[in-house]
Amino acid sequence: MTSLDEQARAILRKNDRGGYTVPTDGLYPYQWNWDSAFAAWGFATFDPPRAWAELETLMASQWDDGMVPHIIFHKVDPGYFPGPDVWATHRSPPTSGISQPPVAATLARLIWEMDTEGGHSHMAALFPKLLRWHRWWHETRCTYGPAAITHPWESGRDNCPDWDIGMEGVDGSRAGDYTRRDTGHVDPSMRPRKAEYDRYIAIVQFGVEVGWDQARIVAEGPFLMADPGITFILLRAHEDLAAIGRALNEDVTEIEAWAAQLRSALPTIWNPALGAYDAKNLRTGEFANVLGSGAFLAYLADASNPELEAHLMRVWDAVTYGIPSADPEAEVFDPRRYWRGPTWPVVNALMAIGFRDAGRHDLDARLRRETVELIQKNGFAEYFDPNDATPCGGANFTWTAAIWLTWAG
Ligand code: DGY
Repeated sequence: MTSLDEQARAILRKNDRGGYTVPTDGLYPYQWNWDSAFAAWGFATFDPPRAWAELETLMASQWDDGMVPHIIFHKVDPGYFPGPDVWATHRSPPTSGISQPPVAATLARLIWEMDTEGGHSHMAALFPKLLRWHRWWHETRCTYGPAAITHPWESGRDNCPDWDIGMEGVDGSRAGDYTRRDTGHVDPSMRPRKAEYDRYIAIVQFGVEVGWDQARIVAEGPFLMADPGITFILLRAHEDLAAIGRALNEDVTEIEAWAAQLRSALPTIWNPALGAYDAKNLRTGEFANVLGSGAFLAYLADASNPELEAHLMRVWDAVTYGIPSADPEAEVFDPRRYWRGPTWPVVNALMAIGFRDAGRHDLDARLRRETVELIQKNGFAEYFDPNDATPCGGANFTWTAAIWLTWAG
């Protein structure tokens, strides 16, 4: 019986397609942005050159405007929908037209700290690219203050209840006929519903219609919401990028200003009625009034407070394993449906970075213990039912293996 460490390394090797890693075989056959950054972190524990190669392939797909897309379609695979023809971004290699949570600077900093000398030239070459990507976030997605998303897929937490009010305004009927591929790979009850998919596709079609003009997408697109999750991830990543820049003797004044501006916007996503950070529909100013894992990422940016922590403990105590992606006491809670309830080892690992930095070793230890139990019982699944540990979504998942190697195991 091979150890879980060996199994985790074997998963990364098996999902390696040569310079980039797929999240899992079948369900996700391309390079995904934040998955890739986690893959790099995992590789850094046993193959540092491969770790840097992963980040380099990711950043090589950067658009001229600085955006780093959420999917890079290196080799066309009919097993995934929506593929490059639907996105029609006309890039080489083809990519999607939206971004994904900018965890790369934070994880690159951790990778660099594991081998400062060996990683120096890699970090120095990546820095200007990360800087341009962060500038893109600041200039195109933070115009309202907090970080905004133009598509639920941009949040990485695709179908979480946070987006329900924004999705109500999207006309899914214009999506037309198409065949989903995800439900052929995994149990459909663990995936988003058809009504959500119709709307996902309709938002993509709008992007195609305006030639992926980001200013028009933000100004006129069918969906625009403030995302607490990305806000905290970006704020933390700005601070990590500034630290990287200082170590490289770069001028980081601009990055510090972005971070300060983003931090000053945090009160605008605090929902007093909920007593927590909350997603907000930027078209209407309305709060989502739902508590989800995005709010708890506040720890990552040193932005938690006792009121939020009381909610964290309530939702965490309501389940057995890990922090759930949605509030178990809310009507919308669905313990196996993607981001509407399951616990995600990768998000647990991100929160744990925040817990540790805040000196909350109690919270880190509990989260680690519960995440280890999930993986020991049921393997390296994409996500788990937080009540009974049922493995959900894709198996042999890259980022679950990666966080085992870097944090949980
Ligand atoms: C999917 O296909 O479910 C992805 O999460 C979209 O990026």
